[in-house]
Amino acid sequence: MQSPGRKISIIGAGAVGTSIAYAALIRGVARTVALMDINADKVLAEVLDLSHGLEFVPRAEVIGSSDPAVCADSDVVIFTAGAKQRPGQTRLELAEATIELVRTALPPIVEVAPAARYVMVTNPVDVITYAAGKITGLPRNQLFGSGTVLDSSRLRFLVSEHCGVAVQNVHAYIAGEHGDSEIPLWSSASIGGVPLLDWEPLDGGRLLDAAARATIKQEVVQAAYRIIEGKGATNYAIGLATARIAEAIVNNEHRVLPVSSLIEEDFHGISDVCLSLPTLVDAAGAGPRLPIAMSADELAGLRRSADTLKEMQA
Ligand code: 2OP
Repeated sequence: MQSPGRKISIIGAGAVGTSIAYAALIRGVARTVALMDINADKVLAEVLDLSHGLEFVPRAEVIGSSDPAVCADSDVVIFTAGAKQRPGQTRLELAEATIELVRTALPPIVEVAPAARYVMVTNPVDVITYAAGKITGLPRNQLFGSGTVLDSSRLRFLVSEHCGVAVQNVHAYIAGEHGDSEIPLWSSASIGGVPLLDWEPLDGGRLLDAAARATIKQEVVQAAYRIIEGKGATNYAIGLATARIAEAIVNNEHRVLPVSSLIEEDFHGISDVCLSLPTLVDAAGAGPRLPIAMSADELAGLRRSADTLKEMQA
């Protein structure tokens, strides 16, 4: 699968940015993958390293620079630059310094790539997405965040392991903040067409009762902290998840992904905040949200998550 002529640009050549580039190359997401980082030596080294593998992936070129001009005419711009999350530090604590970085780094990129779709990945992603929308004035569809695409993938993986069914057959979303207040939408989840809440264990699988669901939710919420304790950062799964978002855009896939975007109008009492809900993603970027049914508890959790994010925004 290859989209001829497509260009994606990745801002920030750290572990996350380069993992997105690597995943995008292997998946054949774009003909040109551009890396931009203020550290020119680092970006050129990453360009060389990735370019040395081009024989083994669908046709593509990798370019890079510390100059925003390298992002000119991109179809998708992915923003990963920011301070690194330290062990024990919440994503929300990263916010202030990172917003200043967005304020200086993003406008020159929008100038050279005005038609691109912008995917914010830097944490705290919901707050950064909200701030980037205000700073650039780009509409909700054109600028959004990677949100809980990764968290939903973590949830599906854990349900898949628990029930003994392939991860591709588990359909379940995490909504709200990409962070501690996120909530799994159990009531709409399904496994191979069977509502998850009606799931009966198959051979080798286990009961997915309330206690098991609570443990799985806790593991999803703790996942990044656990990985950061062990290796300092998370990069591979966010790399794959973000490359998948870019692919949905460049291939105009109308794919349902829980990206984080601005709630402009009243949504069950929530508004003027960026958070994740299952959303159609296509060439126009973040399209309509799905009218997903939520239990009273899930809705209350979503409202609490929105309140947490609004406090941070304020
Ligand atoms: C993650 O969830 C740290 O946001 C990053 O892996």
